Amino acid sequence: MFVLGIESTAHTFGIGIVDAEGMTLADAKSVYSPDEGGIHPREAAEHHQESCLLVLQKALSQASISLPQLCAVAFSQGPGLPPALRVGAVMARGLAYSLKIPLIGVNHCLAHVEHARYFSKAERPLIVYLSGGNTQLTTLEENRYRIFGETLDIALGNMLDMFGRAAKLKHPGGPKIEKLARHADGTYLSLPYTVKGMDLAFSGLLTAAKRLLKEGADLKSVCYSLQETAFSMVAEVVERALAHTQRTELLVTGGVAANNRLREMLQIVAQNQSACFASVPPKHAGDNGAMIAYTGLLLQRGKIETLLSASRVQPKWRLDQVEIVWD
Ligand code: ATP
Ligand code: FE2
Repeated sequence: MFVLGIESTAHTFGIGIVDAEGMTLADAKSVYSPDEGGIHPREAAEHHQESCLLVLQKALSQASISLPQLCAVAFSQGPGLPPALRVGAVMARGLAYSLKIPLIGVNHCLAHVEHARYFSKAERPLIVYLSGGNTQLTTLEENRYRIFGETLDIALGNMLDMFGRAAKLKHPGGPKIEKLARHADGTYLSLPYTVKGMDLAFSGLLTAAKRLLKEGADLKSVCYSLQETAFSMVAEVVERALAHTQRTELLVTGGVAANNRLREMLQIVAQNQSACFASVPPKHAGDNGAMIAYTGLLLQRGKIETLLSASRVQPKWRLDQVEIVWD
């Protein structure tokens, strides 16, 4: 029994395959990277169309299985860029229909969260989900993920990518900023710090960091100061949330969780609050098909599937709208 999962919300076209225990047997992907500027939705969709069959072949060969051995096809139904989402949805419908197996629409945010929980084995963690489109603090309460802190404007990863563009770094900026910051001499340049209760805002920080660049400040020092400021803001809300919720486990997930400095800071926060710290493994932090396949497996165990008539993509689907039928 194998579940195949298709990811196509934004830059990545990925196909993963998991076995009945949720273990990843395949995690194939092709990532669209614009020559300049940010992600263009139509270009991302074209990239996905061109690469989808090759990625499918790669995934099947990694897992050493053939299509008739699949018992369900899961796909990222949202949130994401509509043209990109549709490529994955069309492929998933075609596979499910021709193989006569269930189709399972998966919320992409839920997949980041559940896959991280799977690796960490944390029971009731406070989860920080930091990525290109999301910055959320959440806990599972009965049958919903409750979001009690998020960004008021742009997501943390998006802010890093936009700064990266201003600094002429190739998309995505996050990993390049991390590298530059690591080689900085530790000079901290003052930047605005915006925390409102459990919420965060990053656009003022972005504007100020871009201004520093224009004024000729050293790029490495700006990257360092940008990371230190943004990650301290996250650390502050996480610390408060741990104290309020009295959760004893902290789990970080999403593309930005690949950042070593961020994980280091959150680990210190967890320690101060006597909580255990865990992170999604960096290689599974960014978008991938395996997390969709794994969440598809959870949904299938919960007897949830998606009828063809209900399989339209949901570009604005939020994590807290999903009913959770497992612990
Ligand atoms: P979402 O999950 O909100 O839909 P997404 O699908 O665009 O977001 P992910 O792959 O989950 O994307 O995350 C991508 C983001 O992670 C990008 O903004 C990227 O810059 C950031 N990122 C990746 N690696 C690092 C790193 N080492 N340091 C900081 N940010 C990083
Ligand atoms: Fe993502």
